[in-house]
Amino acid sequence: RATTAQSSAVDLRNVVTGETLDLGDVLPEGKDTPGVKQFLSTGHNPYITDASCLKQGEQTFLAACSGCHGHIGEGKIGPGLNDNYWTYPQNTTDVGLFSTIFGGANGQMGPHNQSLTLDDMLQVTAWVRHLYTGPVGDAEWLNDGQKKTYTPYKLGETFPDDPPGMCAKSGK
Ligand code: HEM
Ligand code: CA
Repeated sequence: RATTAQSSAVDLRNVVTGETLDLGDVLPEGKDTPGVKQFLSTGHNPYITDASCLKQGEQTFLAACSGCHGHIGEGKIGPGLNDNYWTYPQNTTDVGLFSTIFGGANGQMGPHNQSLTLDDMLQVTAWVRHLYTGPVGDAEWLNDGQKKTYTPYKLGETFPDDPPGMCAKSGK
């Protein structure tokens, strides 16, 4: 269990209780990567359109989320995550979705702060955004430029091995 809380310029709160999430109660690995630092200071997830992060985010999603939310986020015992209906409207923002993954919601949707690193949570958030198939106009998490190049997820699409980007294993 990490002992040093890191400060955050963004307000991270449990989506159900509104309680502030404890950034000291996280796994020791992956808590101060450049991506995590950028997210905690800006509230924007820099991994959203980064192919190197999407690939790892997919692996985490398949291991930690798809059992309840379906392989492409289509919904199973947990709600669909690839459409434009959200039980918690704040999930349309990077901060909101990250907070839901970190702190959990109701019932089976438990917190992930002791099973995923902060960096994993950003990666899996990016993958959830990538799975989105709803109207681009409702994709509040995309900026105007990202909306212009957005293409809905297609089953079976492939990524190159270790593409360049912030999560590249080869450090490109
Ligand atoms: C709710 C994401 C893992 C079961 C949610 C919501 C999100 C989410 C974003 C809120 C959806 C909305 O506002 O409409 C994720 C991610 C996971 C994960 C990214 C992996 C890191 C799981 C697992 C389970 C689960 C493993 C089952 C054991 C549920 C349930 C809800 C939910 C039942 C509804 C809770 C409520 O309405 O308060 N999840 N989830 N989730 N999830 Fe997950
Ligand atoms: Ca939904």
